[in-house]
Amino acid sequence: MEEKLKVAKEILAKYTQEHVLRFYDELPKEKQNQLLNEILTIDFKELTKLYESTKIKPSFENSKIEPISHITKEELSEEERQEYTKIGEQIIKEGKLAVVTMAGGQGTRLGHSGPKGTYDIGLASHKPIFEILCDNLKQAKEKYKIAVPWYLMTSEENHEDTIAFFEKNNYFGYPKNAVQFFKQGTLPMLDTNGKILLNEEGMIKQAPDGHGGIFEAMRKNGITYDMKEKGIEWVFIGGVDNVLVKMVDPILTGITVKRKTLAAGKSLIKANPQEKVGVFCKKNGKPSVIEYTEISKEMSEMTDEHGELLYGESHILCNQFNIQILEELGNNKLPYHVAFKKASYKNEKGEIVVPQEPNAYKFEAFLFDAFSIIPDMTILRVKRQEEFAPVKNATGVDSPETARELYNNFHHI
Ligand code: UD1
Repeated sequence: MEEKLKVAKEILAKYTQEHVLRFYDELPKEKQNQLLNEILTIDFKELTKLYESTKIKPSFENSKIEPISHITKEELSEEERQEYTKIGEQIIKEGKLAVVTMAGGQGTRLGHSGPKGTYDIGLASHKPIFEILCDNLKQAKEKYKIAVPWYLMTSEENHEDTIAFFEKNNYFGYPKNAVQFFKQGTLPMLDTNGKILLNEEGMIKQAPDGHGGIFEAMRKNGITYDMKEKGIEWVFIGGVDNVLVKMVDPILTGITVKRKTLAAGKSLIKANPQEKVGVFCKKNGKPSVIEYTEISKEMSEMTDEHGELLYGESHILCNQFNIQILEELGNNKLPYHVAFKKASYKNEKGEIVVPQEPNAYKFEAFLFDAFSIIPDMTILRVKRQEEFAPVKNATGVDSPETARELYNNFHHI
């Protein structure tokens, strides 16, 4: 331990982060050890670079951005629908489809303290979000006589609570052996001077590294391997916060196979230029998404000759990948994006500060940056009222109230 402490001190001195050990002596032994291990494994060089990146505004000036073409589900002919459904159903029945739910986010905007999936949006049944999602899989099981494997990505802070919730609810009646949990990675949060923040305990304040960490996390946790061993060929990856998400959709799978693309994403028409959704586009000739936090006002308002938004194909975090691509991505590092957030911390005097304004940088990789290694992607435009009811904010837009209404309308409740 003495040797470890010495090395940790040297590293911290090199990167002027000595304050990280400020409360070391007050920590219990096992936490001291954990803190030293964290210091020894953090890539400080990368962290310094990330801090430097906060001073640069994302710009697309050096990239060629163009609109991307899509296929509208509603406009498919009856024959096409039947053909894609048949191909997709075959894949599902043969056990070649798996589903991943990304549930590692912090859900800060919703103001719910537990994992987002445990939230009750107020349906008459009071089903929590996880159960609403699980209904998809239960229906598929009924129809195709197969339990589609369900993987859930959690994070350090909600992993145990998520598993405990599934256990308590008996996996909502879905076979327990078809469900697996895995943790995504974390990165330290920095203050505006580039110093690592400390949490209430006096340990490093870590935050999930964004859902783009999924590919590495799948590889490190043996998930990609497990899928391959099971003979999985296609993987649907979606967020936890859309209560109308269609996790098993034979048409999406079928059309992707038929078009011979190695990935697909669902889109819908952006409600207005300001809507807080990323939009699909082509960046340097490759599929991409420009996030709502990074698109310029001018670009978000551009229209084509029919008056439609040029960048209006919303990305709803409903994507599907071929296992081959997932394997490749597991060894690729995605870039990090910067978010400026409110984060409570312990100051030098040992006081807990709860800021009213953003004070900390959080670094997140975005899953859709992975699209750049994919030559072509199928973008399937679906109907908002059928497939998108996000739960993001406590009140107003994209809140439990709006999601509940959309859910009830769709299910005719
Ligand atoms: C996200 C998309 C946006 C899309 C919108 C649709 C990003 C960066 N942007 O925005 O393009 O139009 O959804 O609703 O995703 N998550 C993790 N780990 C993390 C961070 C997030 O698992 O480290 C999960 C969350 O649990 C959630 C999903 O990813 O299921 C979306 O995350 P969030 O950060 O809320 O994204 P949005 O800003 O809503």
